[in-house]
Amino acid sequence: MMKKEVMFTLNNEEVSIEVDPKWTLLHLLREVLELTGTKEGCGVGECGACTVIVDGEAVNSCLYPVMEVEGKSVVTIEGVASPDGTLHPIQQAFIENNGVQCGYCTSGMIMSAKALLDKKNDPTEDEIRTSIAGNICRCTGYVQIIESIQQAAERMKK
Ligand code: FES
Ligand code: FES
Repeated sequence: MMKKEVMFTLNNEEVSIEVDPKWTLLHLLREVLELTGTKEGCGVGECGACTVIVDGEAVNSCLYPVMEVEGKSVVTIEGVASPDGTLHPIQQAFIENNGVQCGYCTSGMIMSAKALLDKKNDPTEDEIRTSIAGNICRCTGYVQIIESIQQAAERMKK
């Protein structure tokens, strides 16, 4: 296996690492960099558990070829809270509105919501629903999840 170097920004830190070009971004994050907050569900782009943000867009990291992160900015759930540990308003709102049940979908939901709220601080309910359309919650907590994102949007506007 011929490894290649890839350089990118991960949660605001420069990363330079040798990778197998056949890897996915999810493999690099979880298995090599041990950032296990990003979850693997289906592995084929259908559940959204593996969602991270690349250059401002929510992507399924299980489908994202690792070589494509070259020169880009990647944010995972580990990079969402403040460095002092203060939770992001979206994380806080998920806690307060019971947006978390088993938690398996939660990282992906939060990353999808963050990609939306970073662009739009006053989204409609339809826009929120669309932003998490690729995220499956097997605990069926969608109502609380949408309420969490709505509350976070309100707080982030202030
Ligand atoms: S694990 Fe990537 S979409 Fe399901
Ligand atoms: S909280 Fe369990 S899958 Fe969503």
